[in-house]
Amino acid sequence: MEFPFDVDALLPERITVLDQHLRPPARRPGTTTPARVDLQQQIMTIVDELGKASAKAQHLPAPITSASRMQSNRHVMYVLKDTSARPAGKGAIIGFLKVGYKKLFVLDDREAHNEVEPLCILDFYIHESVQRHGHGRELFQYMLQKERVEPHQLAIDRPSQKLLKFLNKHYNLETTVPQVNNFVIFEGFFAHQHPPARKLPPKRAEGDIKPYSSSDREWGLPQGW
Ligand code: ACO
Repeated sequence: MEFPFDVDALLPERITVLDQHLRPPARRPGTTTPARVDLQQQIMTIVDELGKASAKAQHLPAPITSASRMQSNRHVMYVLKDTSARPAGKGAIIGFLKVGYKKLFVLDDREAHNEVEPLCILDFYIHESVQRHGHGRELFQYMLQKERVEPHQLAIDRPSQKLLKFLNKHYNLETTVPQVNNFVIFEGFFAHQHPPARKLPPKRAEGDIKPYSSSDREWGLPQGW
């Protein structure tokens, strides 16, 4: 994805980590520095455009990633830029991965409710022209290292088929633990929660616990969710 400003100078590293402050990274020495407010505006434009492209790729009715959502949540976004081709000398963005901790009730394999706060995969997008080139894996690996998590410790917010295939191929994640919310967890999730998952009494009357999830992907679900 190209932008009308110099992405290469704005994001000096191949992978940039953005949090709710959406701070422009320090620039390379010798690079002319526009006003900081302009740089932040450029970051916001990138986040908004990536969010729109991701929503389109997933056929979502509205983006779940935007600058304003980033600013009002404690999510972390990993943005991958293209360091090979440099169209018109301004650089390009390849894609992004957004993660964040969420309080969830998840079922274990004995159908007991567990209150947990895992790192969740919230949004993930690689530009159509370069999918299946290993860029998604590069971003994911970087995120795992930075966040110090193992793949089976993650919860995934309504993964697409492509993402399920991706997780299976690269991380052998296949067997899911069935849930009643939007989140997908895999075998091994409960063995590795830190701190240990807090269990709620398993024998609750049906409907007593709401299949609570703070998913951003709740469109079209029946009322009451
Ligand atoms: N069909 C089936 N599997 C696919 C496809 C596809 N079109 N694209 C990627 N994959 C899976 C396959 O396992 C593939 O391996 P293969 O080519 O040997 O079959 C593997 O991913 C390739 O790995 P990478 O090249 O590292 O992945 P990529 O750079 O394509 O990134 C991603 C994966 C992010 C899922 C990308 O394909 C994409 O942006 N898809 C569209 C948006 C999307 O579905 N995002 C996830 C939404 S759900 C969420 O974010 C919680």
